[in-house]
Amino acid sequence: MADLKIRKVKPFSAELTVPGDKSISHRAVMFAALSNGACEISGFLPSEDCLATAQAMRSLGVGVEDLGGNRLRVYGCRGRFEVPDRPIDCGNSGTTMRLLSGMLAAQPFSSELVGDESLSRRPMNRIATPLEKMGARIAGRGDRCLAPLRIQGTERPRAIDYESPVASAQVKSAILLAGMFADGKTTVVEPFLSRDHTERMLNYLLVKNIREGNRVSIWGGQTPESRDIVVPGDISSAAFWIVAAAARPGARLLVNDVGMNPTRTGILGALIRMGAKINERVDESGCEPMGAVEVNGAVLRSIEVGGEEIPRLIDEIPILAVAAALARGKTVIKDAKELRVKESDRISAVAANLRRMGVPVEEFADGMEIEGVEELVGAEIDSLGDHRIAMAFAIAGLYASGETVIRGIECIETSYPGFVREIEQLLQANR
Ligand code: S3P
Repeated sequence: MADLKIRKVKPFSAELTVPGDKSISHRAVMFAALSNGACEISGFLPSEDCLATAQAMRSLGVGVEDLGGNRLRVYGCRGRFEVPDRPIDCGNSGTTMRLLSGMLAAQPFSSELVGDESLSRRPMNRIATPLEKMGARIAGRGDRCLAPLRIQGTERPRAIDYESPVASAQVKSAILLAGMFADGKTTVVEPFLSRDHTERMLNYLLVKNIREGNRVSIWGGQTPESRDIVVPGDISSAAFWIVAAAARPGARLLVNDVGMNPTRTGILGALIRMGAKINERVDESGCEPMGAVEVNGAVLRSIEVGGEEIPRLIDEIPILAVAAALARGKTVIKDAKELRVKESDRISAVAANLRRMGVPVEEFADGMEIEGVEELVGAEIDSLGDHRIAMAFAIAGLYASGETVIRGIECIETSYPGFVREIEQLLQANR
């Protein structure tokens, strides 16, 4: 297991870009594979999760060529896949397993999906239930339908009207993907709006779907038109650097070419409410809004975060919790019980690691209360094999007295290749 050692840095000035968006990279490869021709994807994120998706598409007979420089060419097969000759390995990636299940639910063959230990603990009943209503058969372990998953697809899925109990883009996307192969209109309603990359990218590929509030509908029998796809930088990766600067008076940061989809930028709104000095520039002309974020360090104050804001910053809660630990007062995060079923139980992982750094934290079933401190104390941090825990606490270490050691940093490769190099450069330049 590899470690990363971090020390406090002085106020820094930096300009950077981050690797491609993870959610959008997965979708680009999958939807290109469903299309009617060759699509070139630029800005693809070459992380373990997204490479698992590319490999999964290859094992279904789709041509995926690596053109170098984070560009891929995918040869669309109009959604007519070959029968895979072995179980498809989704690695650590929930998006791979859940979205792929949606596509495989509409194939006239049976297939098996496997994942690593963490993915094999995550609930798949949330996709199995609606996909079975559409006519597929999905077998997993126990009540929560844990992986390995065996999927018996159906060539003609039934169109359904589904009220999802969770605001989950993975659930919504799995149903919409199966719905593309159904007769008629499939509708998904979610309690709050989750990220809408699937809807946007399908529209961009001329697959008609309509959103009214938290309800999205798609019409079956459509084939995506092959078009080139540009993937913006990942706001979830940028969030780590944004927080590294936001609570440090005198620091300045500019992040360029980053995705600014409003269903993903909740972290910016929350930080601004905390008193962070953040300016945004957004260009709406492409498939996804993209822009620049400028941060000038400031003293932060506590806030409350909950309700419909949660899906818009769900992956950023570990790093938001670090910002809260540096803010004046008690920050409350609620309505976030989904964090318990991410790559780790992120509520208990964040609470345990913040306490190690001297921060009083009260844990709730669906969130936590974090009391800001004058200064974090360097500590030994367990990543629990969760990339966002490893990176959030590496950033915490940049604010802490003494040394912080992050144990188990290999997981960072699932979403942010280059993070460790980047933080080491920051440490060297700003000791
Ligand atoms: C994702 C959706 C979110 C998010 C995950 C990526 C996606 O999960 O946490 O990191 O790409 O659709 P849920 O759909 O489970 O909320």
